[in-house]
Amino acid sequence: MTSLPGTIRPRRLRTTPALRRLVSEVRLHPADLILPMFVKETLAEPAPLTGMPGVVQHTLDSLLTAAEEAVAAGVGGIMLFGIPAHKDEIGSQADAPEGILNRAIALLAEHLGERTVVMADLCLDEFTSHGHCGVLDAHGGVDNDATLTRYASMAVAQARAGAHVVGLSGMMDSQVGACREALDAAGFPDVVIMGYTAKYASAFYGPFREAVDSELTGDRLTYQQDPANGREALRELALDLAEGADVVMVKPGLPYLDVLAEVAAASPVPVWTYQVSGEYAMIEFAAAAGAIDRERAIAESLIAFKRAGADAILTYWATEVAQRLTEGRP
Ligand code: PBG
Repeated sequence: MTSLPGTIRPRRLRTTPALRRLVSEVRLHPADLILPMFVKETLAEPAPLTGMPGVVQHTLDSLLTAAEEAVAAGVGGIMLFGIPAHKDEIGSQADAPEGILNRAIALLAEHLGERTVVMADLCLDEFTSHGHCGVLDAHGGVDNDATLTRYASMAVAQARAGAHVVGLSGMMDSQVGACREALDAAGFPDVVIMGYTAKYASAFYGPFREAVDSELTGDRLTYQQDPANGREALRELALDLAEGADVVMVKPGLPYLDVLAEVAAASPVPVWTYQVSGEYAMIEFAAAAGAIDRERAIAESLIAFKRAGADAILTYWATEVAQRLTEGRP
């Protein structure tokens, strides 16, 4: 063929900004963004994190201020992580009513509960002296069923504190069912369960370990998923749905877009994804080195999640991006 078939030209739809805007298949809205926040019991001042430039561990006071700002920007919700002063073998502070995470939930629920969705991480790793997501058996392994009892108690404590959504990130088998049963029995049938359905054992959680002062020395390979396994995510999805998960999650984000797309295609409930600490750090450090355009890289990574099928995204840039979107910038 010597000339182009002149009638079919995909570039035609890319000619002006208005046309490109009109034909874009997915878009971001501030309400699609969920802000993860850290609150630490022993702090007198917010503490910046070296591995996540721009992110801090909060005091209760600074948490409320930053949460107000996020809500004013229109974010869809806030996901809380707590770092207690005292860690022990069973993570006692996780379900103590006066534990730092439960106090933070209560604070935000009281001040912002009418205007946003208050969510809490439901896992033991921030609370245990050994840093594992569950309690240990006599051989040092993570005891699945003994951990379920702790999670059930945590779910009720978080619900009593005022959490609208509990985020089950521990990857124990039957965690969704155990927490649903406990919440219903305690009189919290409306508390939403978000299951971290496909959560992979990932190097991209690196900076998060600093953020929660993690004491972990080993790894989580016996409970989090192997990065090689995609099909297994659908098995986890079937189980979480059968146990009553209201929302499911794929995590991390960018390295697992294929898994996200498959889960999104198969799921009858909302599917969220988590742009984790290491993904945040990669973009921040590459931008600081002048290698990439920071704002464009952030926007592109977030739109990729929407394209793959995510309904909402947990991202440490939630407030900043929500503000930009409200100002009408991409
Ligand atoms: C476990 C939990 C982790 C993250 C969220 N919940 C760490 C882990 O599984 O090791 C990681 C989030 C991030 O890296 O931003 N409670």
